[in-house]
Amino acid sequence: MKAWVVRRLGGPETMGFEDVDASAPADGMVRIAIRASAINYFDALMVAGQYQVKPDLPFVPGVEISGVVESAPAATGFKKGDRVTALLDNGGLTRGGYAELADAAAVTVHSLPEAMPFDDGAAFTLIYQTAWFGLHRRAHLQPGETLLVHAGAGGVGSAAIQLGKAAGATVIATAGSDEKTAVCLQLGADHAINYKTQDFAEEVKTITGGRGADVVFDPVGGDVYDRSTKCIAFEGRIVLVGFTSGLIPQAAANHVLVKNYSVVGLHWGLYSKRAPQLIPVATRALMDLYTSGTIKPLISERIPLAEAPRALAKVAGGKSTGKVLLTI
Ligand SMILES: NC(=O)c1ccc[n+]([C@@H]2O[C@H](COP(=O)([O-])OP(=O)(O)OC[C@H]3O[C@@H](n4cnc5c(N)ncnc54)[C@H](OP(=O)(O)O)[C@@H]3O)[C@@H](O)[C@H]2O)c1
Repeated sequence: MKAWVVRRLGGPETMGFEDVDASAPADGMVRIAIRASAINYFDALMVAGQYQVKPDLPFVPGVEISGVVESAPAATGFKKGDRVTALLDNGGLTRGGYAELADAAAVTVHSLPEAMPFDDGAAFTLIYQTAWFGLHRRAHLQPGETLLVHAGAGGVGSAAIQLGKAAGATVIATAGSDEKTAVCLQLGADHAINYKTQDFAEEVKTITGGRGADVVFDPVGGDVYDRSTKCIAFEGRIVLVGFTSGLIPQAAANHVLVKNYSVVGLHWGLYSKRAPQLIPVATRALMDLYTSGTIKPLISERIPLAEAPRALAKVAGGKSTGKVLLTI
């Protein structure tokens, strides 16, 4: 079977499209013929060796897939032909989702509801779980509050806009171009600000009558975090989700104290180890929102597996909107 293999760390172009051994899966693993594989920003960090998870070389990147079960041990409850999604273990990732086949631990495999196409299945889990835990578990977003979502046209940002609206918040989104702010409005944001051309902190204060945002969802970091502290409301919560700007901000503890706000971190992957019982709660809530048509992943591009480096470069360069998928 064909897969993209990382043999040395670097940019997307360092991956090689190789024939990879597809002999029987390890004991207990579910073998899946991949139909769609989501590109996540952190894939690029992993390929470059800049992510907190550093797989041993060589490895196949990609952690989020949908597809059809090829084989499964009877004890898993899955059988050949089942439509499923899976998260491939990024702790010990050796053979990820930029491939024709993947082997997944049964605990990470879920049946794909009849009404959910493979594309939505591959794009669904990480963005919505991350946004749900960020907004509800870490920030305790309440109906009627104002939510500021940075990089709202990106993967997790687009999910946060939709979940913020579903939770009854007023949503202000930022994005790095006028095309992307238009996408934020289409996703349901009440206001959208181009943070490359406007001072979003001043705009947020104007929109909220000087009060500021109750919750800030920040996948960008750097200056965007710094300016967010200028428009955070009394008792507001800033959720640190990622650092796509490449800059990790330094929180000023005196400022946090003086303005009575909180800075909270989110590492979704840690919930599967420390509080796994919370994940099905989020999954049920998200599936209900999906089946009622309240949320739907924004899939901007479907790119053939053979062109994975181009797809990954687009996401890594901040050029994509919503999700980019590799299709097989
Ligand atoms: N904490 C967690 O548990 C968790 C889970 C999943 C993902 N994440 C993190 O969340 C972040 C976003 O992930 P994603 O998959 O949503 O990414 P994405 O779809 O690529 O969106 C990221 C957005 O960041 C903005 N950006 C600002 N500066 C950038 C730069 N120098 N290079 C690239 N993009 C830049 C871009 O939007 P504009 O053009 O609008 O600025 C871009 O669209 C990543 O850091 C990822 O690792 C965290």
